[in-house]
Amino acid sequence: MLKEKLEFLRGPGGFRAAIYFALKLLVRVEAFRIVWILAQPSAFLKLPSGWRYLSFYTEEKLSNFRSDIIEQVAGQCGSKPEQLLKRGGSLHLLLIGDSLAAQLTIERGPVCRIDSPPLHLGMGETDTFLKYLYTWPAFRRQGAAKRLIAAAVGDLSTHNVQRIIAHVRATNVPSVAAFEHAGWNNRAMVVCTLGGRLLIAPGTARIGLSFRSAP
Ligand SMILES: CC(C)(COP(=O)(O)OP(=O)(O)OC[C@H]1O[C@@H](n2cnc3c(N)ncnc32)[C@H](O)[C@@H]1OP(=O)(O)O)[C@@H](O)C(=O)NCCC(=O)NCCS
Repeated sequence: MLKEKLEFLRGPGGFRAAIYFALKLLVRVEAFRIVWILAQPSAFLKLPSGWRYLSFYTEEKLSNFRSDIIEQVAGQCGSKPEQLLKRGGSLHLLLIGDSLAAQLTIERGPVCRIDSPPLHLGMGETDTFLKYLYTWPAFRRQGAAKRLIAAAVGDLSTHNVQRIIAHVRATNVPSVAAFEHAGWNNRAMVVCTLGGRLLIAPGTARIGLSFRSAP
């Protein structure tokens, strides 16, 4: 794990991430980039053969889908997928052949709880928050996350969503790169203590977001 992190630091975006690592070690604070994009139809998204994008907005659709995959999803999405849908959220999956390759969840505005760090986010009624982006290790670096995000952005544009927001640890080189390369805006940030207490949130009010520490 440490070796992998050192590899990232040598790659693109690594120097910037190294500064945030140093802040974490020396000052005991952690920075998260707040990234966002307007929902828009993904007109040119073409998936490679055998790849399949699926979205779930209703419990009924979820209960008719393969239970083994839903169980696998649940291991990487914070709460049970059924609870996410009950709250008005949605689940987005990318399958390669019969296997789950990547997943993400979407929470709807106007308020959303972020688990790590523990924060409450206030946003607009038609805003959504992307959480738990995860590519299963066997499928990494094949463009799964990139395509899943693009597919979800397109899909959400047909579900009365105007904006999708996400937060990314500033030290997470692959994830920062994935959102940057996909054209997400990234000029806001939250900085918290390692215990999760919010310190500052520069640039967030300007884009209509309010963060506060959650108990
Ligand atoms: C971050 C993560 C989702 C990326 O998934 P992935 O399917 O491997 O990503 P993709 O193959 O779609 O890559 C998209 C872009 O991300 C960047 N990227 C992905 N992995 C990278 C790595 N190991 N190092 C540097 N950049 C990386 C690249 O810019 C890549 O685009 P490129 O291939 O055109 O250069 C995956 O590593 C993961 O699940 N990590 C653990 C969980 C996590 O950190 N989630 C994010 C929380 S916000």
